[in-house]
Amino acid sequence: MSDTKTSPQHPEIGSARRLRSRAWFDNPDNPDMTALYLERYLNFGLTREELQSGAPIIGIAQTGSDLSPCNRHHLVLAERLREGIRTAGGIAIEFPVHPIQETGKRPTASLDRNLAYLGLVEVLHGYPLDGVVLTIGCDKTTPACLMAAATVNIPAIALSVGPMLNGWFRGERTGSGTIVWKARQMMAAGEIDYQGFIELVASSAPSTGYCNTMGTASTMNSLAEVLGMQLPGSAAIPAPYRERQQAAYETGKRIVEMVREDLKPSDILTRDAFLNAIVVNSAIGGSTNAPIHINAIAKHIGVPLTVEDWQTHGHDVPLLVNLQPAGEYLGEDFHRAGGVPAVVAQLMGKGLIREGAPTVNGRTIGENCRHQPILDTRVIHPIDEPLMPNAGFVVLRGNLFGAAIMKTSVISDEFRERYLSNPQDPEAFEGKVVVFDGPEDYHHRIDDPGLGIDAYTILVIRGTGPIGYPGAAEVVNMRPPATLIRQGVHSLPCIGDGRQSGTSGSPSILNASPEAAAGGGLALLRSGDRVRIDLRRGSADILISEGELADRRAALDAAGGYPIPPSQTPWQEIQRGIVDQLDEGMVLKPAVKYQRVAQT
Ligand code: FES
Ligand code: MG
Repeated sequence: MSDTKTSPQHPEIGSARRLRSRAWFDNPDNPDMTALYLERYLNFGLTREELQSGAPIIGIAQTGSDLSPCNRHHLVLAERLREGIRTAGGIAIEFPVHPIQETGKRPTASLDRNLAYLGLVEVLHGYPLDGVVLTIGCDKTTPACLMAAATVNIPAIALSVGPMLNGWFRGERTGSGTIVWKARQMMAAGEIDYQGFIELVASSAPSTGYCNTMGTASTMNSLAEVLGMQLPGSAAIPAPYRERQQAAYETGKRIVEMVREDLKPSDILTRDAFLNAIVVNSAIGGSTNAPIHINAIAKHIGVPLTVEDWQTHGHDVPLLVNLQPAGEYLGEDFHRAGGVPAVVAQLMGKGLIREGAPTVNGRTIGENCRHQPILDTRVIHPIDEPLMPNAGFVVLRGNLFGAAIMKTSVISDEFRERYLSNPQDPEAFEGKVVVFDGPEDYHHRIDDPGLGIDAYTILVIRGTGPIGYPGAAEVVNMRPPATLIRQGVHSLPCIGDGRQSGTSGSPSILNASPEAAAGGGLALLRSGDRVRIDLRRGSADILISEGELADRRAALDAAGGYPIPPSQTPWQEIQRGIVDQLDEGMVLKPAVKYQRVAQT
């Protein structure tokens, strides 16, 4: 911003950079509108002196509410944020962000990520805010907020609400989400009744905060810190800890300084920052939703980042963090073991981090994390003793889809023995598919003996991408039929154009793009076809002739394409018309060209 016009009321401001809020509250070119803007913000007790003092106006983008339990603690943290903002000489103005509760929103919370993004862009663009604190937490709240800050590009800092305390049941840690998969099996086996099922599941949520496992929330909050958008060491602090309140205060102070320094998202969200996020995602055993959201943030800030980058830069990175679902521990343990800075320091030791990437505190990630010790090596492993080498994603492509990912770090021994044990071809497997059209079809038919599902069947689900199931359903990790589970077959290979919960440890091939509803090859698949997956070559193909493939394509086109169920709400219809595929971050295509739109 180069506007250095002096203010009639406050000529001393003329020497400093003029804040954008002054276009509302102290605009010498438009005194009438200034009066109009001022009077309504005075009506709850702010004074003219405050609003015209040249103090930065700091938005608190509030994602917490009674509808959003994971982020609800931000209502409390906002008080400490305000005190920090005031202490540093700013004025706080809090406003709501469209709620996105992962577990409560039907048909799926991911339908609302782009809606919350759009709403926040309008607020940041159209109101007198010089900077903003993004209150992040539950899965989609983090990308929605970061995407909006990227588009508008006013100074922005994120504050994580923090994970819940560890869950416990009869002396064992119970992790959010992850325990549900286990509790279902226990109930199916008759080990617990329904009352016991609810008690076991609820034990994993003992306090305010977001999921305490390394699901999508812990992943995205950790990566927000790695991207440089949160104060170092703050992402992993559990919600109820005193340090969480202290981090809120420090975050409030820092955003005021960032406004004075004009430190914007475009200064922080560089390609180096995104590559660091990819590397750390592997080391923490991060969610398969991370590529979708991180690629979306990159698109909105204008940094080139592809799904291939996730394999190129992330696949060979070792797993260091022993958190459920990949490991044993939970959020409190991760914080006590040193959190994100301790992980970054280990990776720096092997030259895996681009150390010069700037962060919100004005220092680089290298300066922030160098020499950060591991405080509990059971929870964060030293890089020379990793839990697993090569913990990142493999990207697959072929006539089934242009791109899909697989989290190979969660391939179980059972899975490896059954499917990947051919000594001539240890990374490939082939099988007959059974195809389901959407989650209802799967739930309805999975136990149907007529499908002939055996221990070598590949389960496919389609119609579950951003268009087919608006927002993309988290359903790709399908269970085998109950008869097979009783025979000891706990998982079958799964392929789908939807997503998978970050709290699930299933080795599925997911996020297939383009989806069936967008003309992807999954739409051509029929139950009984054979499919070949080669992890080493990165290929996934239907084993039918080119001619047969072309015939099926022509038949599909003649039928008007893969059928899409009707939209239930206006937003479902609007988003379906403009949304991009999962490998492109599921962004709204027309939104991407709007970059750095902050108006003054
Ligand atoms: Fe909100 Fe997991 S459901 S963080
Ligand atoms: Mg989820």
